[in-house]
Amino acid sequence: MLMEYTWNDIERHIDACTHCPLSRTRHQPVMGRGSRQADLMLIAEAPGAQEDKQGIPFVGKSGDILDRLLRDCGLDRKEIYITNILKCHPPGNRDPKEEEKEACFPYLKYETFFLNPKVIVCLGRVAAQRIISPDFKITRQHGTWTCRKNCALTATYHPSAILRDPSKYEIVKTDFNNIVKKLSE
Ligand code: URA
Repeated sequence: MLMEYTWNDIERHIDACTHCPLSRTRHQPVMGRGSRQADLMLIAEAPGAQEDKQGIPFVGKSGDILDRLLRDCGLDRKEIYITNILKCHPPGNRDPKEEEKEACFPYLKYETFFLNPKVIVCLGRVAAQRIISPDFKITRQHGTWTCRKNCALTATYHPSAILRDPSKYEIVKTDFNNIVKKLSE
């Protein structure tokens, strides 16, 4: 069934999606961006207010931090794929609701299936608990690895955690340097 669709089909479905009430408050949905041949996929939780305005993931302050991190680790945004669990902005930046995550999850499944990445990195608790394990503790388990269907999975702090506590920058940079090593294994 997954095989029947293309990237363009999924993009069109996301653009027209009304599967949850966020479709009534969003300005526009935010599909993943980057290389569709990437080995590395980053998954965060949901678009913020800036992303909702521009329709591109990580263009606000968290995006600036993410770009700095990527640069410091020799990665380029254009060569990786960045997406979110939710494609629509939750008002007030609240945590995504269970029903919103469930409604949106098929889109992430398609993105993952089409991309077939070597490494998936969850940015923050919400993504890690949805993708890796419901009881994932980002403080204790960031930087640890699991393997699923030939894909290496890990999680690190969300860039917004660095905005709140700049001392986390070096911790996340260490995690990203290990991600770069994993990509070359
Ligand atoms: N925060 C997220 O989780 N995703 C974005 O795209 C931007 C900010």
